[in-house]
Amino acid sequence: MKITSFIRQSHRWLSIAFTATVIANFALRIHGAPPPWVTYSPLAPLFLLMFSGLYMFALPYAKRRRTGNLIEDRAS
Ligand code: HEM
Repeated sequence: MKITSFIRQSHRWLSIAFTATVIANFALRIHGAPPPWVTYSPLAPLFLLMFSGLYMFALPYAKRRRTGNLIEDRAS
């Protein structure tokens, strides 16, 4: 399904953005406290990761609910 693969790709790239902001936080802290926008910058991608992650988490349960097929789900 198209929207599902878009959300999975977004989750994958957001995880890179999130990791970059966390590394930037550690790197800049060597020179003292960074400005607040740097400190809080991981929150934006983390927030989006939460929604896309919860969507992906719910997918198999939503599918099972629609199809009622437990055997196929166990195999995949
Ligand atoms: C914030 C809450 C988060 C939730 C609820 C969440 C949930 C999920 C779920 C349900 C999946 C799919 C697993 C599957 O294939 O069945 C997934 C995949 C993944 N998550 Fe998260 N996640 C979260 C945060 C993060 C963070 C912080 C990172 C890394 C910095 C991350 C990196 C990934 C990656 C790389 C995948 C694999 C994506 C792919 O299939 O290419 N996630 N996550």
